[in-house]
Amino acid sequence: MPAESPCSNASIALPGVASRAPVGIFDSGLGGLSVLRAVRAQLPDEALLYVADSLYAPYGERDDDFIADRTLAIGEWLARQGAKALIVACNTATAQSIALVREKLSIPLVGVEPGIKPAALQSKTRVAGVLATQVTLRSARFQALLERYAADCRFICQPGHGLVQAVERCDVGSTELRALLASYLEPMLAAGADTLVLGCTHYPFLDAAIRDIVGDRMALIDTSVAIARQLERVLEQHGVRATPETAGAPPPRFYSTDNGTHLRQLVATLLNMDAQVERVLIPSRRTAALSSQPA
Ligand code: DGL
Repeated sequence: MPAESPCSNASIALPGVASRAPVGIFDSGLGGLSVLRAVRAQLPDEALLYVADSLYAPYGERDDDFIADRTLAIGEWLARQGAKALIVACNTATAQSIALVREKLSIPLVGVEPGIKPAALQSKTRVAGVLATQVTLRSARFQALLERYAADCRFICQPGHGLVQAVERCDVGSTELRALLASYLEPMLAAGADTLVLGCTHYPFLDAAIRDIVGDRMALIDTSVAIARQLERVLEQHGVRATPETAGAPPPRFYSTDNGTHLRQLVATLLNMDAQVERVLIPSRRTAALSSQPA
């Protein structure tokens, strides 16, 4: 299934890397927490480092070079913190830059992609909706995925403008957000869609609001559990899966490129943890150019 299986880099040797080293997880913002939650459930012995690039979210409104530049800078930063593997927990960053990042980083990568395959397998009406960012939907990777699985299933692809921004401000149920979601979902329902692909890691946080609109007329496809399983395979392949320690895995460490208030809030709600969030500066070629522009 959909954890972007070609993305594990099996050819990399990892001499001397301790299995106790952490796994890095990165997203443009808070969405990757839906992946972190699944990883913790699947691999409770792994230490985790999470970076939210909230200062530059949403990536779905950025150009391709900007997304690749940030993904690479954050991947390199996490590798320098000692990460033994990296999950690019962002469909948009995976779609745009996974090939480049894989070429440059010397740790195994797991990327994510919208669950087109499981949707094609399970839709009975043969009509499915896809909500994802504009950048993901127009990417060559996504187009190739559609071509592969959409032979006898119609996919209605809807850019989720405004949805990442809502989750970034911890809005998962306001009246405005519900109206926006309804404007995206009602045409899908009218076209007979019985399946909805959540093609952005921010969207699982909207599941209750989505459910209120679609009821039981649509099955929601969220790939976080498949991504966690893919990470497990990759760690095993490289012989770096953590073994159970008597003390247990340390709690995940959270970093944000903005002040981290919303990250902390969502971690509390979602993971029931009172986590400290460290603000980090992760410079990159494009952001250096931004900060040197006159105000
Ligand atoms: N969570 C990211 C994704 O899966 C959101 C991208 C964005 O920041 O627009 O695509």
